Amino acid sequence: MSPVAVCTLDQLDEDFPLVVQVDGVEVAIVRTQGALYAIKNECSHADVALSEGEVDDCHLECWMHGSRFNLRTGVPDSLPATRNVPVYVVSLESDAPNSAVFVDVTADASLVSPPSVSIGLKG
Ligand code: FES
Repeated sequence: MSPVAVCTLDQLDEDFPLVVQVDGVEVAIVRTQGALYAIKNECSHADVALSEGEVDDCHLECWMHGSRFNLRTGVPDSLPATRNVPVYVVSLESDAPNSAVFVDVTADASLVSPPSVSIGLKG
């Protein structure tokens, strides 16, 4: 598989996840603190959509029981969740405000450095 275009940069509001489907996987795209992240939209503790939780300090908090998942690594930093949520590599077509945003659900973002794409200051 290769990266799939899922939205444009200007469709992403700061700290409000956008849910997209990529190759049959539901993914939450998060724009926060000058970067983009992609995380599977399912808590590892139960079948709950993480996109309905709050974004805070590069974490996405599950609204059901409060586990917070690191958007860079997918690792929960608090119980009751103990398993990672998959995070995926995100890329941009350009630094334009309406650039296409790509996600590759076959590429584990926790294994690459940097684990996210920075958003340019243009526009
Ligand atoms: S369902 Fe997400 S922490 Fe329990």
